[in-house]
Amino acid sequence: MDSKLDYNKEIDESMQGDATMVEGEQTNSKKLYLESYGCQMNFADSEIVASIMSQNGYNTTKNVDEADVILLNTCSIRENAEQRIRKRLTEFKKKKDTNAELKVGILGCMAERLKSQLLEEEKLVDIVVGPDAYRSLPDLVKETETGQKAVNVLLSREETYADISPVRLDKNGVTAFISIMRGCDNMCSFCVVPFTRGRERSRDPETIVGEAKELFNKGYREVTLLGQNVDSYRWNVNSKKEIIDPAQPTVNFAQLLEKVALVSTDLRVRFSTSHPKDLTDEVAETMAKHENICNYIHLPVQSGNTEVLKRMNRGYSREWYLDRIKAIKERIPDCAISTDIITGFCGETEEEHQDTVSLMKLVEYDYAYMFAYSERPKTLAERKFEDDVPEEVKKRRLTEVIDLQQASSLKNNQKYLNKEYKVLVEGVSRRSEEHMFGRNSQNAVFVFPRKDKKPGDYVTVKAYDCTAATLLSEIVE
Ligand code: 5AD
Ligand code: SF4
Repeated sequence: MDSKLDYNKEIDESMQGDATMVEGEQTNSKKLYLESYGCQMNFADSEIVASIMSQNGYNTTKNVDEADVILLNTCSIRENAEQRIRKRLTEFKKKKDTNAELKVGILGCMAERLKSQLLEEEKLVDIVVGPDAYRSLPDLVKETETGQKAVNVLLSREETYADISPVRLDKNGVTAFISIMRGCDNMCSFCVVPFTRGRERSRDPETIVGEAKELFNKGYREVTLLGQNVDSYRWNVNSKKEIIDPAQPTVNFAQLLEKVALVSTDLRVRFSTSHPKDLTDEVAETMAKHENICNYIHLPVQSGNTEVLKRMNRGYSREWYLDRIKAIKERIPDCAISTDIITGFCGETEEEHQDTVSLMKLVEYDYAYMFAYSERPKTLAERKFEDDVPEEVKKRRLTEVIDLQQASSLKNNQKYLNKEYKVLVEGVSRRSEEHMFGRNSQNAVFVFPRKDKKPGDYVTVKAYDCTAATLLSEIVE
């Protein structure tokens, strides 16, 4: 393997809390600078926010210095995510000190968690808006024009923004997110999301399929259906409400997946995030049935030890999780699987940690997002357990799982060498203007000579070398 050819940057890092700057259409007079942090759901929400603001006189801009309004769509999942955002807000505060007209607002999970605290105690922002209150943003911005502060952190049991057509802020015009549900009812003991995003609710499947069709007609070739727990998607057909009437037929996630897959065989369908306690055989069967539903499942395990999983309130055991992996592999032998892992959760012993290590060795994940446990205020774990694993132990365990995953990712990529794969071209490689990159169905990243290929094309490639993150390949004509 040639170590100089390192294309690691092509890999999707969005869930690791990277900030992204986004740009919209250019028709309005005022300028909005919008920065997003955290999970894919937040990036999808920013597209709803851009849409709402564009109906009310604001274009998005890349240049923060020309902004009339700065909005940060924030993440609370771990403490360091919040620290980064606070630092950013302090930088924007300096801009406000020299420009009295400039308004700064905070959106998303941190807004919901801290509510008006950011206005009152720290005076960092003018506007605080939670994830279910984006429709009120234009009015709230107006309120601040008279020097007031504005807050709306009401959570809703119904809001899905189903009727709002998102302004696509991605740059490739090929892959897009579609939000299919909001909130989470799971109450994993470590997680702040149920408090910041509220109760789970599903979106009308007709509007989801409509959005997928619209995207396809605009040239998009891949959609990712998003929810905190897509397997519990449920829609009641006849009442047109997501409140379930047991007497009426419902649309479940497998059926929704099929509806979206039928939009076009040229539209790839992905989804995230699956929950091991809810992932059904029917979902795996639907994936196997439709070639355009990608052979890739993100199935967070969090820990490989049943006792830790109990304390985490995950609702499954190690054996149950391994059975779900078996159910997937039986139906889709070449299905790639990724996961999330937390090291050093409350009371985690060395033995329990080794169960996570052994589970990783059994599953041989294609990709993993790995984190040291970070205690979050008000969560079940904070109230019930002591955060007693020393920081250096959490970090050592984290390094151990990261090293293991690196080896596993490399091994998995090596499986793809010297075989032909259909890849959707997403864009120009970050490392070389002469190369394009794209993914196969399993989400592995291939880099290949540009030739006459453009984003949105499907090409067949064959790889001759790889790193843990990227496969170097040639186009097979
Ligand atoms: N500490 C560390 N990681 C966490 N995650 C969620 N909450 C925490 C926390 N308090 C991780 C989980 C989840 C992913 C999105 O973030 O692994 O699946
Ligand atoms: Fe958090 Fe668990 Fe819901 Fe995921 S499923 S958002 S980890 S509570």
